[in-house]
Amino acid sequence: MHDQAKRLRERMQQNQPSRQTRLVTVTSGKGGVGKSNFSLNFALALRERGHKAILFDVDLGLANLDVLMGITPKRNLLHLLEAETSVWDILEKGPGDLEFIAGGSGFTQILQLDTAKLDLLFHKLDPLYGYADAIIFDTGAGISQESLRFMLSSDEVILVTTPEPPAITDAYAVIKMIHSRNPQTKVRLVINRATSDQEGRATSEKLAAVAKRFLDMDVSKLGYVMDDHLVTKAVKQQRPYFLVYPQSQASRSIRNLADVYLGSSDESMGSSGGFKGFLTKLKGLIR
Ligand SMILES: Nc1ncnc2c1ncn2[C@@H]1O[C@H](COP(=O)(O)OP(=O)(O)OP(=O)(O)O)[C@@H](O)[C@H]1O
Ligand SMILES: [Mg+2]
Repeated sequence: MHDQAKRLRERMQQNQPSRQTRLVTVTSGKGGVGKSNFSLNFALALRERGHKAILFDVDLGLANLDVLMGITPKRNLLHLLEAETSVWDILEKGPGDLEFIAGGSGFTQILQLDTAKLDLLFHKLDPLYGYADAIIFDTGAGISQESLRFMLSSDEVILVTTPEPPAITDAYAVIKMIHSRNPQTKVRLVINRATSDQEGRATSEKLAAVAKRFLDMDVSKLGYVMDDHLVTKAVKQQRPYFLVYPQSQASRSIRNLADVYLGSSDESMGSSGGFKGFLTKLKGLIR
């Protein structure tokens, strides 16, 4: 049964027109601002619009997307090191048919693999390029060297903050770090837990204006997600709010945000050379 599903998937993939795949890293300065909830529900909102988004848990050590989805992944990224395992074997199905890859015991371990193993791992991930429209990496709290490398290697960075000053200050610190390493990195802001439309808009405008003024860096505003008690309720139910409360304020705002995202694609997006380009950059930053 498993083999049959695998063959079917491989065949389907072969018949599909190749897609431009964007590698998107979701990050924040301060922890607990809602990155994982955003990544999960944003991926579902994109899928609702027919955009094939795959979710990738790269939280360094404390993976928790599976808990938010109420699933126990059978395989994770490290299983790719086994000779007989292909990427289709580690692609798990989550709620709403969301395709998902578990990071396993943490990406730190993966980044410490020797070059041959790292090459094998990314070589095996390569079929995802052209299969998905977007691969969304959910990173952990705090600005570690590992997550910075991830950000600098991806096609774009979605930086999540709440409207609270400590979160905004830490988000600005991330922008500064990215700027000092590669000012060409595409950074897009998401304000999570906005208490009004006005607050959502004003927070991102202020942060983008500061980045422009002090760093001369163009940071784009992707949008905001409303603060909504139904998010907490869904977290407790271990179900994505976008599926259990599709008409909630949070779901409606994430749907708007997905539309902005889809409307903003341009030719320069998704053209970084796929996983090979990603790996080349990542390896360059590690060594
Ligand atoms: N839009 C929202 N409205 C209300 N509460 C929210 C919203 N988004 C997130 N939360 C609350 O914030 C908590 C933390 O969210 P989440 O786990 O997604 O943050 P995180 O940034 O991924 O955390 P970490 O840095 O630990 O990875 C959730 O459990 C939920 O209670
Ligand atoms: Mg998280």
